[in-house]
Amino acid sequence: MIVKSLDHLNKISEIILKKLDKKDCLFLIGEIGVGKTTLTRYLINNLQKQKGLSLTEVLSPTFNLLYEYEINDFKIMHYDLYRIKETKELKHLGIFSEELDAVKIVEWPDLIKTPLQDKLEVHLRYGEKENEREIEFKGLGKWENFKNEI
Ligand SMILES: Nc1ncnc2c1ncn2[C@@H]1O[C@H](COP(=O)(O)OP(=O)(O)O)[C@@H](O)[C@H]1O
Ligand SMILES: [Mg+2]
Repeated sequence: MIVKSLDHLNKISEIILKKLDKKDCLFLIGEIGVGKTTLTRYLINNLQKQKGLSLTEVLSPTFNLLYEYEINDFKIMHYDLYRIKETKELKHLGIFSEELDAVKIVEWPDLIKTPLQDKLEVHLRYGEKENEREIEFKGLGKWENFKNEI
């Protein structure tokens, strides 16, 4: 599917949000600058808007690895694992411990091999025009049919 503009990506984020539950996992896959953090920003800010909260800044967790957002009863953990080179470093982060009652949004999830029940992979690629992107969804569990719903 072609994403025509930032505004279009924003609309797609709203469709993802409709289905998002408190423990879901989103993997964002694609090159640097393709839009992974931008999509995360739309998801978080749209959820804040829905809950009547003021919008916060959503920055890339490139150096911090993780930023957390408390959005009423939702907790969102936004990871950027670009700098992680070994699986054992992931264990220290405890990224998928069972008790983690949060939405996990993960940029550069390549090292994560944990089997997950409900997961949406969002693949982003550059398009032909500057503000165009290609987006592809691969879902597991409740997300399996998402690509046909959008
Ligand atoms: N349709 C689009 N979808 C996503 N990003 C876009 C789009 N058009 C332009 N951009 C721009 O591309 C950049 C994406 O950067 P960013 O989200 O930080 O990428 P990543 O996290 O994948 O490295 C932003 O400057 C954003 O404004
Ligand atoms: Mg990013």
